[in-house]
Amino acid sequence: MARPIQIAPSVLPADFARLGDEVAALEEAGCDLIQWDVMDGNFVPNLTFGPDVIAAARRHTSLPFEAHLMVTDPDLMAARYIEAGCSRLIVHVEACQHLHRTLQNIASLGATAAVALNPSTPVAEVANVLDLVDLVLVMTVNPGFGGQAYIATMEPKIAEMRAMIDGAGLSDSIDLEVDGGISASTVAGAAGAGANLLIAGSALYRHPDGLAAAVTELRQLATEARVTDA
Ligand code: DX5
Repeated sequence: MARPIQIAPSVLPADFARLGDEVAALEEAGCDLIQWDVMDGNFVPNLTFGPDVIAAARRHTSLPFEAHLMVTDPDLMAARYIEAGCSRLIVHVEACQHLHRTLQNIASLGATAAVALNPSTPVAEVANVLDLVDLVLVMTVNPGFGGQAYIATMEPKIAEMRAMIDGAGLSDSIDLEVDGGISASTVAGAAGAGANLLIAGSALYRHPDGLAAAVTELRQLATEARVTDA
């Protein structure tokens, strides 16, 4: 049985001058966890959150934090992001010289390990590390910026990833996360293809009725899509 539907924010659109209040508001809005899009200006052409920024936000919410490490060398600062309060680290297949060892290292540091695939990267790249992760992230945009268009051609890949997880008997131990362009008009496609953890930034912050309404709407639409497509 696939894990339950979860809705999590990317805080990229948040007011960076008030991150403590912003994460408290995300918890209030019903988010299941908070994703920090960590970018190093090298793996992606953008620069965002260091561990000290995340540590400053940590005391303002009880929600779990995950760091989406869009960085060239995730081993370099993995320990710092865990010390800052991230209980899960997501590393990119494309950034790891030795992915298996990197994932083992994250677990040895006390966090849960997860792996992300850019749009052009086939799911076969993670076939041999599923035993080391509790989440696989299928990107539906090219990483680096929020507010991009959802790449719908990733839906067969999401379904392929879902089949690999289920085929390995890991449905109840691995989340299938999708990140990029998730909104009321795209969430059903992603959830219907097999995603159970949906990341949204723009769609949450731009919703006319506010964060809570946006979270509720995405959760409802994703749940309906999964039931319909089960
Ligand atoms: C890309 C980022 C974005 C962000 C979500 O590197 O990871 O996908 O989280 O942004 P929206 O929801 O605005 O597409």
